[in-house]
Amino acid sequence: MKILIIHGPNLNTLGTREPDIYGSETLDSINSKIEQFCNTLGIEPIFFQSNHEGKLIDTIQSTDDNISGIVINPAAFTHTSVALRDAISSTKTPVVEVHISNIHNREDFRKISFTAGVCIGQISGFGSNSYLLGIQALHFSSLSKS
Ligand code: DQA
Repeated sequence: MKILIIHGPNLNTLGTREPDIYGSETLDSINSKIEQFCNTLGIEPIFFQSNHEGKLIDTIQSTDDNISGIVINPAAFTHTSVALRDAISSTKTPVVEVHISNIHNREDFRKISFTAGVCIGQISGFGSNSYLLGIQALHFSSLSKS
């Protein structure tokens, strides 16, 4: 089983970006942690990060049957992007939305997700473990279909 892990804008600066909110792990160290976790489940993760909305959409659109699921942290586009929502809504691949911080106990504008409503579900507030929980959620939902 291959899954795609998509990181949205500004997540490439994790480690130095607002560590009081997002912690001190870099994106590379989070990806290594994801890789190790996936190994234990027999999952192959494929990683993609972009600061550009269109590139995130292109990546979702180009997902084929080899990819069993997507875990996406849309970052700031969560709160703004109808285009990203439409791309998620159009793909046959199941998608789980994750956030490092708890977007529901921050500024009001962060409490709204344009994208969560077209995902299987949303995981928010568990630090980098949100990604692992998202992967687990995809894994459970794929097992329940087999
Ligand atoms: C984030 C939360 C978003 O509100 C913010 O714009 C991000 C990161 C998170 O993982 O907590 O860039 O998605």
